[in-house]
Amino acid sequence: MNVYDSERMADVLAPLGYGLVETPDQADMVILNTCHIREKAAEKVYSELGRLRLLKTAREDAAGQMILAVAGCVAQAEGEEILSRAPYVDIVFGPQAYHRLPEMVARASRAGKAGGKGGAVLDTEFPAEPKFDHLPAEKANTENAERTAFLTVQEGCDKFCAFCVVPYTRGAEYSRPAADVLAEASRLAGVGVCELTLLGQNVNNYHGAGNDPRTPEAVWGLGRLIAEVAAIDGIERVRYTTSYPAEVDDELIAAHRNMPELMPYLHLPVQSGSDAVLKAMNRRHDADFYRRLVERLRQARPDLGLSSDFIVGFPGETDADFAATLKLIEDIGYVQAYSFKYSPRPGTPAAMLAGQVDEDVKAERLAALQDLLNAQQLAFNRSCVGRTMEVLLERPGRDPGQLVGRSPYMQAVHVEDPALAIGTIARLRVTAGHANSLTGVMTGAERMPA
Ligand code: 5AD
Ligand code: SF4
Repeated sequence: MNVYDSERMADVLAPLGYGLVETPDQADMVILNTCHIREKAAEKVYSELGRLRLLKTAREDAAGQMILAVAGCVAQAEGEEILSRAPYVDIVFGPQAYHRLPEMVARASRAGKAGGKGGAVLDTEFPAEPKFDHLPAEKANTENAERTAFLTVQEGCDKFCAFCVVPYTRGAEYSRPAADVLAEASRLAGVGVCELTLLGQNVNNYHGAGNDPRTPEAVWGLGRLIAEVAAIDGIERVRYTTSYPAEVDDELIAAHRNMPELMPYLHLPVQSGSDAVLKAMNRRHDADFYRRLVERLRQARPDLGLSSDFIVGFPGETDADFAATLKLIEDIGYVQAYSFKYSPRPGTPAAMLAGQVDEDVKAERLAALQDLLNAQQLAFNRSCVGRTMEVLLERPGRDPGQLVGRSPYMQAVHVEDPALAIGTIARLRVTAGHANSLTGVMTGAERMPA
């Protein structure tokens, strides 16, 4: 989501004459788009700001200017603190303010030119309705068009999992009207995008205003939205992330059964396999609900690959609770997953709970969990050997002549074949499965998406 937001920031700044550069020392403005989800991510902001300060000072010594901005969830949660710890920052703005960026930049730039500090700009307001900016028209003619793109369809979260800052930093759940989503999807397809990932903190709880003249009042769920996006000319692959297990509905399960464009890969975070921990986390599912849900999804789409997020060391987690998580992982079988040590976040209920788990216990549990997940990922990658997969070739690889693409399961696939080109969907036969990637060879049938 931050990648998507950063792209939108670049879009809204283009009319002011700003373009992207490769390194901060080439930049007239640096925006750090930050993440507040765990303490480590949030602390990185301050060390990064320390480094950027040197560049900014050098620039000012040479009578130049560099605007330094902090965006995203750390800005939202700790705006005042950023300005006191790093007073040289010019602009601090939250995830719902990026459409006001041109105005803020103009103010910061005037303040800078007037000499000294005209006062930093702080914008962490939550509007009643989040604003989704569309791509400016100039974007339509980019050379080197990307084949794959993100599209935000839902923002915010009302779930209040006890460990999580997102409801506080991203605000309440809001679904973008289907007409807007379809217009942006069509425009992206028009510039060559063939794979779309629909984004939202609770994307499967999408309930946007529908776009059907026969039923103008109807609200669409995610299943319907995916069907309409997949029907757009040129869109060949659809994905969505991230989902909340308790809100997966029958329409979405049916979409996995009926729509070949919907990739057979689903990120469905369970967090823990212990019912006691799930309850303390304020998740609205227990381990058996999750098992049954995966069962239903696999009945609809037998080759579905699953991914998840896990937290170890949530307050009160016992050895038995942790064992239940390992058991769930054994039962489900993941194709890949993300896992984290619990990180107490200021202002969240779990940070105040008794029974905080020792760091070394967290580290041990994380290592054991990751051993199991890595073994499952390797087993899955090896099980792909001999299969033919459609791979969207995205970029050059490290070796000369090598290309890297994505399989339907999001695996990186390496291939060396002079007949293949970036931007095509190639049918590759998998010849090797590694820890984090596959190797493939061309099967003779390459095709160019429309
Ligand atoms: N500590 C550790 N992990 C967290 N996550 C969210 N908040 C925390 C926290 N306080 C993880 C969850 C979530 C993912 C995006 O980040 O697993 O699904
Ligand atoms: Fe955070 Fe996801 Fe829970 Fe929302 S559903 S509070 S974003 S972990």
